[in-house]
Amino acid sequence: MDSLLPDLTPVEQASLLAVRLRALDARSATPILDDRVAERTADAAGLDLTRPTIPRSAVLVHAVRAKTLDDAVREFVARHPDAVVVDLGCGLDARRQRCAPGPGVDWYCVDLPAVIRLRAKVLPDDAHRVPADVTSPDWLQNLPRDRPTIAVTDGLMAFLAGDAFVELARAITNHFTGGEFTFNAYSRLAMRNSRRMGALGGRAVGASGSTRAPTLGDGIDDPREPEAWNARLALIEELSMARAPEVALFPPVWRTISRISARSARMIRAGDRVVRYRFPA
Ligand SMILES: C[S@@+](CC[C@H](N)C(=O)[O-])C[C@H]1O[C@@H](n2cnc3c(N)ncnc32)[C@H](O)[C@@H]1O
Repeated sequence: MDSLLPDLTPVEQASLLAVRLRALDARSATPILDDRVAERTADAAGLDLTRPTIPRSAVLVHAVRAKTLDDAVREFVARHPDAVVVDLGCGLDARRQRCAPGPGVDWYCVDLPAVIRLRAKVLPDDAHRVPADVTSPDWLQNLPRDRPTIAVTDGLMAFLAGDAFVELARAITNHFTGGEFTFNAYSRLAMRNSRRMGALGGRAVGASGSTRAPTLGDGIDDPREPEAWNARLALIEELSMARAPEVALFPPVWRTISRISARSARMIRAGDRVVRYRFPA
């Protein structure tokens, strides 16, 4: 078992799975994200990449998803050299290093205090670290309001119960004057199945230890749903991982499965998607 697991709750441990996925991608023969910092971070955190065995499909989808979110951030900071980037539930992700924003960009990494403490040890960088539960009041108060802002989140939706993700969207779009909110969306079915299985994202955590990360969120099916959250969001686009150009790099079986999924709107909604919104609508 990884030496750090006992210090983290099952939800916090999801950050270890995510960095493990990126490190495995970097070590593969055909990396998609090619995040070398993830390899170093996994090493620094003492993670054993050989155990538990992680399905190749999980590594592939995670890499494409992270790259898609990176592209959204890169595009935003290219348009707004004075942007604020807020990575919600940042875990041990080196998105800032991958996106390499210019000096005018302020980058905020937000996660639960134990994860932020770990991050400071294993992934030191120049980002502002915000140790906070994003469901608590006031965590946004010290963040600048009036600059173009992109809030990005990869994997957080699954861990926020009930309306908490909706409340988070409202808090973001109330606090910041304008910008984008982009996240990976889980379908309701995926959330239900995951709850049934006892874990989402906690798959490798559960397999390597005795704990599992609980799936708490409800998910969304129609990407227009957030427009009715009273959070001033307007859909920019919904991106299916099955349709991403990086699918060409998948091993043949997964390439075929992805290309079949890409033909059906229903399968796309059931699979991994990244959704982008601007605010105010
Ligand atoms: C699946 S991990 C993804 C981490 C990171 N985005 C990545 O891709 O490496 C989900 C993250 O959300 C964080 N998280 C869960 N609930 C949270 C909350 N209420 N407030 C802040 N962070 C939270 C967890 O600690 C974990 O780091």
